[in-house]
Amino acid sequence: MAEQKDDIVLSIRGMCKSFGRNRVLDHINLDVRRGTVMGLMGENGAGKSTMMKCLFGTYQKDEGEIYLNGRDVNFSGPKDALENGVAMVHQELNQCLERNVTDNLFLGRYPVNHGVVDEGKMKKEARELFRKLGMTVDLDQPMRKMSVSQRQMCEIAKAISYNSQIIVLDEPTSSLTVREVSKLFDMMRMLKAQGISLIYISHKMDEIFEICDDVAVLRDGHMVMSKPTKETNMNELVAAMVGRSLDNRFPPVDNTPGEPILSIQHLSTKFAPHLQDITFDVKKGEIFGLYGLVGAGRTELLETIFGVRTRASGRVYFRNRLMNFNSAKEAIDHGFALITEERKANGLFLKGDLTFNTTIANMNHYKQGIALSEPKMVRATSQEIKTMHTKCMGPEDMISSLSGGNQQKVIFGKWLEREPDIFMMDEPTRGIDVGAKYEIYELIIQMAKQGKTIIVVSSEMPEILGITNRIGVMSNGRLAGIVNTKETSQDELLRLSAKYL
Ligand SMILES: Nc1ncnc2c1ncn2[C@@H]1O[C@H](COP(=O)(O)OP(=O)(O)OP(=O)(O)O)[C@@H](O)[C@H]1O
Ligand SMILES: [Mg+2]
Repeated sequence: MAEQKDDIVLSIRGMCKSFGRNRVLDHINLDVRRGTVMGLMGENGAGKSTMMKCLFGTYQKDEGEIYLNGRDVNFSGPKDALENGVAMVHQELNQCLERNVTDNLFLGRYPVNHGVVDEGKMKKEARELFRKLGMTVDLDQPMRKMSVSQRQMCEIAKAISYNSQIIVLDEPTSSLTVREVSKLFDMMRMLKAQGISLIYISHKMDEIFEICDDVAVLRDGHMVMSKPTKETNMNELVAAMVGRSLDNRFPPVDNTPGEPILSIQHLSTKFAPHLQDITFDVKKGEIFGLYGLVGAGRTELLETIFGVRTRASGRVYFRNRLMNFNSAKEAIDHGFALITEERKANGLFLKGDLTFNTTIANMNHYKQGIALSEPKMVRATSQEIKTMHTKCMGPEDMISSLSGGNQQKVIFGKWLEREPDIFMMDEPTRGIDVGAKYEIYELIIQMAKQGKTIIVVSSEMPEILGITNRIGVMSNGRLAGIVNTKETSQDELLRLSAKYL
């Protein structure tokens, strides 16, 4: 049995891939053992997703070989890969939002009985699958009614349902709750025990050390490290990823908040999930964190302030003026900005280039007379690319050609261009690598020093403790307390987040 564990089920040799002049993968090798989890790490744009898409047949590699159980394979497309035992959960969800859970599960492979789709069979299999995975899901519910994390779990369930030998998970936990992550890990351990191998892409170190047997690191299209997780540590991994060691994960928070400038008074929402009687002030030049468990109402609070969710009662004052916005446009016109957590649905125009996506929220700014000035827009975009260290060829790149983390940077750049006074961010560093995270933290602190007010939602305890001045903790739709970051502790935050459960 021990011998079998060392069996190589997948072997990638000398894989190369270029997009135009951009060589994204340069002679990559990787071996995955049967019944193990291989972690794959690397900075945004390092080539992780591309490598996995070449394996899965979404992209065709330019050079190299892929051996599955010693057999040379080259999948013509995802369908071919799935039929041959390789499944993949993509970084960006790609579901039919109008269709229900069962439909999405069987999309492209409906069971047919005498020429008609066998709905009964579909339902039965779907129910059985979710039961095995320990998930409760309403199978008749349209996808769009589900939270991002529920949808993600459905994608994972789908990949598992193919009975594959190899399952690739590309940043599957970026929007899962703590409980869902631990369920997913249980599931992964179960699959491992059945001899299935997993390739697990994540930017989260603690996850890699918890679940992976081996870990490989890509840097700029080169495989720079691959070894058993037991034989490495966090510092070595970071150094391999960024090519230098990073001593501190957070820059010094040295802004000085001024007078209260934003006042939220007795805010409640009309529709579920309900916010109840939320009252707090935020100061000019302050970084105010919002912590809470997923579902506590943090996103809803930002959306209500921003005018995209219906108030039942309550008031928002900015500089002592009533700001009960009824649309995002009103909020934007008054100097508010909101970076949402789901970038593909809310933040980007995937058919546009970087210039379009960077300047879209601020068109008036680039007028020359009555016409838009293209050079002005391109110049602004180049500047944001520089500020954010966005990895791309230039402003004319299509947004869809950027890696996931780099798309997030473009969203950031877009709002920076508007120079908002109140900058609200919902999980701004989700899916962003360690090096780029540090840059975003620096940027946030820099903005606060220039007198901008920042409200940031984060589920990551170290992050919320590392970059804020004060933290409001939400629990089940209510504000459970506000603490000074310097004087609080992880215990206190957890205690407060459970206050109204
Ligand atoms: N379809 C495409 N067309 C052109 N360039 C692409 C395309 N897909 C990826 N790239 C480029 O390939 C490089 C690697 O991207 P990839 O998505 O593989 O990165 P990643 O390691 O998955 O990053 P992240 O952590 O941000 O998800 C990037 O520079 C990206 O711009
Ligand atoms: Mg990726």
